[in-house]
Amino acid sequence: MLYPTLILAPIRGITDCYFRTIFQKYFPGFDLALAPFINPQRYSSYQPKQLKDLLPKENLALPVIPQLLHTNAEDFLFLADRLYDLGYKEVNWNLGCPAPMVTKKKRGSGLLPYPDEIVAFLDQVVTRLPMQLSIKTRLGYESPEELLHLLPHLDKYPLSEIIIHGRLGKQLYKGTTDKKSFARCLQKTNHSIVYNGDITSIEEFTELQQQFPSISKWMIGRGVLANPFLAGKIKGIKQEVTIRQLQLFHRELYECYRELLSGQAHLLGRMKQLWVYLSNSFPPAPKTWKKIKKCTTEKKYLQVTEDIFNTDL
Ligand SMILES: Cc1cc2nc3c(=O)[nH]c(=O)nc-3n(C[C@H](O)[C@H](O)[C@H](O)COP(=O)(O)O)c2cc1C
Repeated sequence: MLYPTLILAPIRGITDCYFRTIFQKYFPGFDLALAPFINPQRYSSYQPKQLKDLLPKENLALPVIPQLLHTNAEDFLFLADRLYDLGYKEVNWNLGCPAPMVTKKKRGSGLLPYPDEIVAFLDQVVTRLPMQLSIKTRLGYESPEELLHLLPHLDKYPLSEIIIHGRLGKQLYKGTTDKKSFARCLQKTNHSIVYNGDITSIEEFTELQQQFPSISKWMIGRGVLANPFLAGKIKGIKQEVTIRQLQLFHRELYECYRELLSGQAHLLGRMKQLWVYLSNSFPPAPKTWKKIKKCTTEKKYLQVTEDIFNTDL
């Protein structure tokens, strides 16, 4: 079995540079992270303030690759140049986002039904890009035939890798991943492929490794938000698997956002996004999540989380 490389998936609203840094401190196991996409803004000069999440000084703990959602080649190249100036040697193109706001603009997975436009974009971008390019995608928007049709056309571009989340755009996050179509994709490409989607336990991971022995790179998102010890477990890292570790991690993250964000609504909103997943570490998860969701003041939130961390599971 190939030794796994683990990549932290981008989860917009959660895995920003502060989260990535603090997470890596308490739960080592990831080799690198893909940053959440940068929202396309026409005529933006992308000042360092707007690229805060990607400033090298904020990303010392875990190497990171920036992600762009742009479908206008000139805008993509402009931003890529700014990222190159910051020191980045690779950028990722998002062809997978399923959010209706995004797909209706023919971005993310919304571009997958239009392979000619994808090829035209790459023709304009690849030769002028000062760094490597990778793609993160889904199986298609409407049908897995979309990616199966597209993949052979991508062989001619020097992509560093293609990350495939085995769902369709129209599924959003519902249903299961389609492993059969993922397996068919492997036959249709010469590129290095990264597996992504629903890796939630060591058993699941081992099964996937057996099913796809040629895959060495794995991307995990919600599975590690629900069980932060998972990446370390996969890597066989000796770690202290205790509630205390979760508590320390939570405290540091909370204090960090408390300094950064203005107002308790903003702070609690940010922490609650994590608890959507982290509540799975404290079963029964729906009950835990309900308690957190109800908190409207910092005082109540701290009381409730203290109780959760002090519960014997
Ligand atoms: C709230 C949320 C935000 C996400 N943000 C991004 C993003 O910015 N860029 C991206 O490529 N994928 C994004 N994703 C998709 C994840 O990176 C990943 O592909 C997906 O969750 C499947 O992997 P998982 O089952 O390991 O989480 C997001 C997913 C969720 C649930």
